[in-house]
Formats: sequence, C-alpha cells, structure tokens
Amino acid sequence: MDGHGKLRILAISGSLRKKSYNTAALEALRELSPPDFEIVAHSLRGIPMFDQDEYEAGGFPPPVVALLEAVDRADGIVIASPEFNHSVSGALKNAIDWLSRKKPVPLVDKPVAIVSAATSPNGGIRGQYALRLILQPLEAQALLMPEVVIGRAQDKVDADGRLADEATRTALAAQMTAFRRWILRLRPVPATA
Ligand SMILES: Cc1cc2nc3c(=O)[nH]c(=O)nc-3n(C[C@H](O)[C@H](O)[C@H](O)COP(=O)(O)O)c2cc1C
Repeated sequence: MDGHGKLRILAISGSLRKKSYNTAALEALRELSPPDFEIVAHSLRGIPMFDQDEYEAGGFPPPVVALLEAVDRADGIVIASPEFNHSVSGALKNAIDWLSRKKPVPLVDKPVAIVSAATSPNGGIRGQYALRLILQPLEAQALLMPEVVIGRAQDKVDADGRLADEATRTALAAQMTAFRRWILRLRPVPATA
C-alpha cells in the first residue's frame, strides 16, 4: 500500500506480442479493478535467457533487476499468459526462473491472480495450471477462484485491440474484487503492544 492508500498491482503479460490478447486483458484492468488498485504494467521484453554461468559471473542483468524491484514493490501481481504448447510462454517461465534465484525469493507470500487468453476455445486453461505448479515452489499465494479463461480471444477484442466482450469484462471485474479481498486477507497482522 502506498502513501495514498492505493494497492499497487503489478501486471505482467506472458506475451511479448504488441497486439497480445493477454496484454489487452491486463490493460482492461485499469477500467475494471477496484478504485484503490493502481495497475502498473511491466514488460518481460529484453529479459535474457537464464544462464547460470552468466548469472554466477555477473549477477542479475538490468532488466531482471527492474523486474525484481517491481515485484518487491507490488502489493499483488496479475499474470496474464498465453498457453504455448499446453504450458506457459517461455518468456514467462524464464522470468520466473530469474526471480527464483533472488534470496529471499520475492514471490514468497505475494498474492497472484492468474488470467489466460488464447485463440483456441479452451482459453489456455492448461497453461494456467502449469503456472500454478511453477508458482508453488516459490510460495506465491495464487488466488484460487474465480478463474478467468478467455477463449477465442480474437473475437473478444474490438478493432483497436481493446478487450470489448462484456461477459469477459464482468468476469475480470469479479476476479479483481476477489483478488482485493485475497490481498487484504494475506496482510500480516500488526503486532499488538
Ligand atoms: C508457440 C505457440 C504455441 C501455442 N500453443 C497453444 C496452446 O497450447 N493452446 C492454445 O490455446 N493456444 C496456443 N497457441 C495460440 C495462442 O493462443 C495465440 O497465439 C494467442 O494469441 C497468444 O496470446 P497473445 O495474443 O497474448 O500473444 C500457441 C501459439 C504459439 C505461438
């Protein structure tokens, strides 16, 4: 929570594509989230492939340092990822692999909400479950329900690439309301004097 009582929500897209449906879903959160959410987008573009030799020689490269800082500052993270071959995108997995090298791991106890958009009717649900598996060893706190799975995403954006489908927008708004409750529930209880 920042000095203005806002919850800082980091929005990470697993797609690097400019017209990504997943990024469009995250952009829609600016209009669909509770008023005290401040949505901060962070691109995974430019993060090099994790190479343990280079990490041991040079530490975290600047794009990873920027991501680590963004994660640290966030009250919660929304990840929207495409499903690539029944799993998450390589870009997202690689970014999480980097984050996991920092000790303590910045994802521990971090509230995370998961969204997926895909051109197939199944909406990338298998990728969502792959992501839950990846987040588990890092002890991130993934919101269980509601799930938001955006199938046939190409039919749900308008000519400008904005997420326009009303049912999907309603589902995202409901998920963000639940996510707000989840974030507040995971807050440490202040010690009594
Ligand atoms: C390498 C690759 C693998 C894909 N595998 C799947 C898949 O397993 N399941 C699925 O629903 N869509 C799959 N797709 C199609 C994606 O859903 C589609 O490209 C989608 O638009 C990607 O998300 P984006 O719009 O956010 O970039 C795949 C696409 C690519 C490029």
